[in-house]
Amino acid sequence: MKKLSLNVDHVATLREARKGSFPDPVAAALIAEQWGADSITTHLREDRRHIQDRDVEMISKLIQTSLNLEMAATEEMLKIAYSIRPKMVTLVPEKREEITTEGGLDLILAKDHLTQFVKNLHSSNIKVSLFIDPDIDMIKVAHKINADIIELHTGSYANAISDQDKYKELLKIIDSAKTASRLGMRVHVGHGINYHNVAELAQIDEIEEFAIGHSIISQAVFVGLPQAVKEMKSAINSKTK
Ligand code: PXP
Repeated sequence: MKKLSLNVDHVATLREARKGSFPDPVAAALIAEQWGADSITTHLREDRRHIQDRDVEMISKLIQTSLNLEMAATEEMLKIAYSIRPKMVTLVPEKREEITTEGGLDLILAKDHLTQFVKNLHSSNIKVSLFIDPDIDMIKVAHKINADIIELHTGSYANAISDQDKYKELLKIIDSAKTASRLGMRVHVGHGINYHNVAELAQIDEIEEFAIGHSIISQAVFVGLPQAVKEMKSAINSKTK
């Protein structure tokens, strides 16, 4: 059974629009796991534009499943990871001006820094996932850096307009997933995955987990969070052959 990690950042975005106390991403996390989410993802950004430190602390204390703490590879975040002790950390690139995470990590540029960073997290028994583009060279470097998991950035696949481009992007994801799995790393995917484009990804055996936020929270506006989570959990497990 493939796993679903619900990213609750988008609930916090709605709360921060009024700088108030609702909707609460902590409540969303608790409801989502009751309706089939296998873990909860939060991206604690340097600028704290959506998820706040309090959200991460409470979610990590209250959920029955596990927390995937998404963060940049900075000293500030390392200290937070040491104190929260999530089951897993996903390292992502972060730019202040971006609307959401754009592109995967440049593992080649940051290889030495990331190798040490992964080692530090491992010393606290935290599994490490690297968010990277579906590119075979990056997968090989991720393996050298000692990543436990890679999360393949599915943004280009999700944004492709023509069938031809979509297929080209899908092939990159398939190749990358197979290579990573052969090298002994677990494979997750995330970014821009929705109820329409998930079916093709659900066919890829090597993918263990889907990290999805925006489409599920958007669907929840119309059908409620329990139904939105159930629909996606069933979609990611809709292998046709
Ligand atoms: N995975 C990572 C690493 C992300 O940065 C994001 C966006 O916050 C997601 C998954 C979820 O993407 P979306 O909100 O488009 O489903």
